[in-house]
Amino acid sequence: MTILVTGARGNVARALVGQLLDSGHEVRAAGRDPGRARLPGGVAVVAADLARPGSWDVALEGVTKAFLYAGTAGLGGFLSRAGGLTQVVLLSASGADPASADAITRAHGEAEEAVRKSGIAWTFLRPGGFAANRLLWAGSVRGGVVRDPFPSSHSALIHEADIAAVAACALTSSGHGGAAYELTGPESLTVREQASLIGRAAGRAVVVEAQDLDDYRRELTAAFEARGLGRVGSAEVIEARIRRLAALVDRPQPTTGTVREVTGRPARSFAEWAADHAGDFR
Ligand SMILES: NC(=O)c1ccc[n+]([C@@H]2O[C@H](COP(=O)([O-])OP(=O)(O)OC[C@H]3O[C@@H](n4cnc5c(N)ncnc54)[C@H](OP(=O)(O)O)[C@@H]3O)[C@@H](O)[C@H]2O)c1
Repeated sequence: MTILVTGARGNVARALVGQLLDSGHEVRAAGRDPGRARLPGGVAVVAADLARPGSWDVALEGVTKAFLYAGTAGLGGFLSRAGGLTQVVLLSASGADPASADAITRAHGEAEEAVRKSGIAWTFLRPGGFAANRLLWAGSVRGGVVRDPFPSSHSALIHEADIAAVAACALTSSGHGGAAYELTGPESLTVREQASLIGRAAGRAVVVEAQDLDDYRRELTAAFEARGLGRVGSAEVIEARIRRLAALVDRPQPTTGTVREVTGRPARSFAEWAADHAGDFR
């Protein structure tokens, strides 16, 4: 049985490919830019783009299960060509709701609706914030000063390896059909605390300074564009993100035990994520 992992360049997809290979599964990876995917085990990447549904025919050949990203407009076209699939695990987001006024939760809710309508058995992964978002700080950590508009805002960031581990369980064991898993890291930390843990892992002192909101908008737009994120990087989404972060100032966030319940292992701490990525900050 070959499992298709889409979004080969993504943090979660990369971790998932590694975990599936480690547990002896056959994996086919697909991405828009195969040359830029750095996949474990030298897994070859098939070129495919959700914006061009016809590009999926080769990737889907002989595949029955797939891991999918939600944040793109072409999901309906992909699903209409995916007649051989019996199961989809969709990387959605916490609070996904097609009727939401928030652009991020609405887009993910619409993606879930498209998968539900396809008639293929599904599992939705609904993580909150990713620890990997902090990779945007790499240059600032090297310079010793992280700038953020909301230094006291809280989040229970999740390690991409834990999202991948839940996806791997859903793809390779029974009992996950129709489940929507709300996923978080194991602790709520402020931006300051996160920066300090990254500094400790990277072996350098890091201070956090309040950042002007327009600077933050510019930085985020450039980062999304660099990763070719199209709709995900729209101004509406960036404003939704800013409103969310503002609402989290001095408000510790709840955590879920879903990673442990599904995988049998506790969710990795932010300190563990920082240690795993120390090289990215040096
Ligand atoms: N960041 C967060 O805090 C957060 C929180 C909750 C949910 N999420 C969800 O997780 C996603 C990001 O996950 P990540 O960090 O693993 O990814 P990432 O590193 O940000 O990469 C984005 C992924 O989207 C894929 N993609 C974008 N447009 C595509 C298209 N037209 N056709 C095919 N694939 C396309 C890319 O695949 P290619 O290899 O083709 O470039 C890439 O794998 C977000 O888009 C969102 O849906 C994120």
